[in-house]
Amino acid sequence: MNASAPIGIFDSGIGGLTVARAIYERLPAESTIYFGDTARVPYGPKSPETVRRYSLEILHWLLGQGVKAVVIACNTSTAHALQALRDASPVPVLGVIEPGARAAVRAAEGGAIGVIGTAGTIASNAYARAIHALAPGVRVEQVACPLFVPLVEEGWFDHPATELVAGEYLAPLLTARVDALVLGCTHYPLLKPLLGRVMGPAVRLIDSAEETALALAGELERRRIAAPAGAKGTHRFAVSDDEPRFIKVGTRFRGERLARAEVVPLG
Ligand code: DGL
Repeated sequence: MNASAPIGIFDSGIGGLTVARAIYERLPAESTIYFGDTARVPYGPKSPETVRRYSLEILHWLLGQGVKAVVIACNTSTAHALQALRDASPVPVLGVIEPGARAAVRAAEGGAIGVIGTAGTIASNAYARAIHALAPGVRVEQVACPLFVPLVEEGWFDHPATELVAGEYLAPLLTARVDALVLGCTHYPLLKPLLGRVMGPAVRLIDSAEETALALAGELERRRIAAPAGAKGTHRFAVSDDEPRFIKVGTRFRGERLARAEVVPLG
C-alpha cells in the first residue's frame, strides 16, 4: 500500500467534519477524502441493515479512490456497520466508538459513565459493550438525544430551545450522577459549552474525535503506511447531494471555510 495514498473519512453528512478536523490537526502530512452522505442523512433513526448497506456503498466508493485506510466518523454507522466494513475491506477500517469508550474509561476513573447518541447508536448498545470490554464493572447510563442533530445543524449551539431540550434529555444522567459523559454523535461536540453548563463542572465531557485521530496515527505507524514526515496533506470533499448546504454548514463544523465539494450520487 502506498504511504502517500489518502485516508478515506466518511459520515452520514456534515457532522463527521468534527472528526476530520481532529485528523487534519494531528496528522498534517496525511491527505484525505471526506464523503458526506447528505442525500440520505440522517442515519440515526434508520435500521441497522439500511445503515450497513449505505456504509458499504461508501466504503466501495472510497476504495475506488485508492484510500489506504478508512475512518468511519459517524457513530451510528460505527455502531451498525464497523464489523461488516472490516470484513469487506482490504485496508484498515477504524470507527469512533472504541476510541471514545477508551477515553471515557480513562476520564471516569472507575466512576459511572453516561453516553448520549442517536436512537440507533443507543439502541445498538455498542458504547456500553466497548466500555465493558475495557472496564467490566463500570455503570453505564445511556440516553438517545435525537433532537440535538437538527438543532446543531440549525446553528443553535447556545440557544434557549437547545438548553431546554438538553435539560430534559440529560435529567436521568444527572440523577445517575455520572462522572463522564460520552458525546456519542458527530454533532454533539459543537454543544460542549451548553452541555457542560447543564451537567456541571464535575462531569468530564468526552469527544471521541481526538482519540480517534490518535488511534489512526497508531494504526498507520504500525502498518508502516504513514505519509512521509514533512509532506503537506491535501483534503478533498465529496457529498451525495446539496453541495451549497454542505459548504455553508460544514464551514462551522470544520472551523474554517470549505472551498468546494464534488457531488457523487450513490445507490
Ligand atoms: N453522524 C451521525 C452520528 O454520529 C449523526 C447524524 C445522523 O443521524 O446521521 O451518529
